[in-house]
Amino acid sequence: MKILLTGGAGFIGSHTAVELLNAGYDVVIADNLSNSREKVIDRIEKIAGKRPKFYKIDVANKEELSKVFDENKIEGVIHYAGFKCVPESTKVPIKYYRNNLDTTLTLLEVMEEKNCNAIVFSSSATVYGDKNKIPYEETMHTGDTTNAYSSTKLMIENILQDVTRANPNMSTIILRYFNPIGAHPSGLIGEAPQGIPNNLMPYITQTAVGIRDHLSVFGTDYNTPDGTCIRDYVHIVDLAKGHVSAIKYAVDNKGVNIFNLGTGKGSSVLDVVHTFEKACGKEIPVVYEDRRPGDIDCFYASVEKANKILNWKAEYNLYDMCAHSWNWQKNNPKGYDE
Ligand code: UD1
Repeated sequence: MKILLTGGAGFIGSHTAVELLNAGYDVVIADNLSNSREKVIDRIEKIAGKRPKFYKIDVANKEELSKVFDENKIEGVIHYAGFKCVPESTKVPIKYYRNNLDTTLTLLEVMEEKNCNAIVFSSSATVYGDKNKIPYEETMHTGDTTNAYSSTKLMIENILQDVTRANPNMSTIILRYFNPIGAHPSGLIGEAPQGIPNNLMPYITQTAVGIRDHLSVFGTDYNTPDGTCIRDYVHIVDLAKGHVSAIKYAVDNKGVNIFNLGTGKGSSVLDVVHTFEKACGKEIPVVYEDRRPGDIDCFYASVEKANKILNWKAEYNLYDMCAHSWNWQKNNPKGYDE
């Protein structure tokens, strides 16, 4: 079975490509490399022993995307293509709406024209907003998003619901990720943010390797045991395997199905820092700062639905996530750049 990964050269897409190839799928990647590097394709091949087919295209370009479908019998799509930087999205919201919605609408049009009816969408726990009780369950209210990035995730979920209602042959899986970190244990692929990282783990790894001189911990007065925010960190390889389970499920199940992908366990910012210090054998210099606007004190996933229905469960623990993130960073201090 041939699966198209839009935005498949990125952090989550590249790890999913490896797991799909390991599970015997054929993989086609379409990515404009706006936030990734072509070298990742060689690395995927090195790990999986099989090369994904790669198209350097903008998924919002209908002609180019149609050609990918004409040249390959695509039976399912995993849709990652989109901008993902929360602070940037608050500054240039139109850019985020234009890109994230255009890529999705073009993809859905082409899928309809080419009679491809299975899609897995890369959504985020951010759609739960800040008014739900923890743990977050898939049936809970969504909304109250506070930035354009999060709003596009929710809008795309709604678009997918409407499109699926109108097409009885369509199988749509929405995966709501919690906080993916870690890297492939080989150290060959990992997270490679361009510029200053916004997310916690790449900031920690860049501090450990000496690119940044300290980590700023945003907020020490949250309503949590150590005062720092609690999140549900999930290993990227576990998350990638969740996509393989989702594709398998999509083949036999029409309609929309939504799943959280997390561990069901929360860790604080300081838990992550201290576990990372153990994994890398160095101290991470920390400066305590004010809260970052928009952060919620604590959330983690209910993972029962994915456990039961997808037969998926995260296996790696926080130490593994830290050790693998460190292994990736120390072997590739500049990410995929020389
Ligand atoms: C964010 C996005 C989420 C997105 C996810 C992955 C928001 C509200 N949510 O999650 O939609 O899916 O990234 O891209 O922005 N922290 C520090 N110092 C740092 C960086 C982070 O203390 O230098 C803290 C944050 O305050 C937070 C925790 O670490 O408490 C995790 O932050 P981060 O990795 O950015 O993820 P989220 O904000 O949870």
